[in-house]
Amino acid sequence: FTAELDASDIEKGTYPHYMLKEIDEQPYVIRRIVEQYFEDGDIKIDQEIVKAVKEADRLYIIAAGTSMHAGFVGKQMFEQLAGIPTEVHISSEFVYNTPVISKKPLFIFISQSGETADSRAVLVKIKQLGYPSLTITNVPGSTLSREADHTLLLYAGPEIAVASTKAYTAQVAVQAVLAAKVAGKTDLDLSRELAIVANVMESITDHKEQYEAIAKDYLTQRNCFYIGRHVDYYVALEAALKLKEISYIQTEGFAAGELKHGTIALIEKGTPVIAIVSQESVNLNTRSNVKEVKARGANTVIISLRSLSSETDQIVIDDVHPLLTPLVTVVPTQLISYYAALQRGFDIDKPRNLAKSVTVE
Ligand code: G6P
Repeated sequence: FTAELDASDIEKGTYPHYMLKEIDEQPYVIRRIVEQYFEDGDIKIDQEIVKAVKEADRLYIIAAGTSMHAGFVGKQMFEQLAGIPTEVHISSEFVYNTPVISKKPLFIFISQSGETADSRAVLVKIKQLGYPSLTITNVPGSTLSREADHTLLLYAGPEIAVASTKAYTAQVAVQAVLAAKVAGKTDLDLSRELAIVANVMESITDHKEQYEAIAKDYLTQRNCFYIGRHVDYYVALEAALKLKEISYIQTEGFAAGELKHGTIALIEKGTPVIAIVSQESVNLNTRSNVKEVKARGANTVIISLRSLSSETDQIVIDDVHPLLTPLVTVVPTQLISYYAALQRGFDIDKPRNLAKSVTVE
């Protein structure tokens, strides 16, 4: 297998940073995933892979960093669409603190690079135990791809910026494709819904000034919180990682309902709190958490879907299918991180102390 690269994939072109280019590429990546995985209305995935997932009584997603956050979103898809119990584990913990494993597990490794040593250590271990494995990666021929039984590719094109953006959305989309294939016939027309996602992503990246202004007006302190419930909590985790890794603002993502159990003590005048609201079932509760922190002086921002939005929400995104909201709600958070780092003059594509692919445990 040879990766098809053209020069534009690895050149910045007119972009000042790879990260911004890669954020902008996300609609194309989603369309490419549709092209690669759909044919005549059907999902094309190797039968062996479909069989491996269907036969499993439980899926174990193993990943690190941003890929683990994509795994949390995938868990929802495998459980809600395909009805398969799914656990997500941090690779570096799984090796030493291995949970009780079900009778027929399938291990799914999610890794942009396919080289993360922590994940590989788990793969080596579970192979010794005789368990089947699937790697979801952006890099054909990478170590995790070669060593696992099966591979699904992300087709995101090379990701150069250390902070992962398009690989995350590709990981979420490919897990949706796999979950939908395993689920078989449902009401979900995934190729159509992903096409809508791509258009909505474009409408976000077309209005960058909005995110630049939020970074400038709200991220004025050394700390920041992202909050959300349900799947918005998982996006809050990813949003927080993105902001801290490139802007060095101490940021945490919290389940909005957990705030009152401790973290709310940190809220003081001017603390930025960004809430994500993409699910009807949690709309009112997350908003009441926003009120609580606002009453204690927080500077709050709400990112919501149009159908759930209120007039004062700073960022309103057009609706997408409820299972796919992470693909669009994450994009404003990527842009806010980018502009926060830009405004501070940091090396956006190569943040301090971080590596794109971490090959030591
Ligand atoms: C590094 C990168 C992160 C990435 C993580 C997992 O820490 O800086 O951006 O999420 O590794 O990488 P992988 O290639 O396995 O997805």
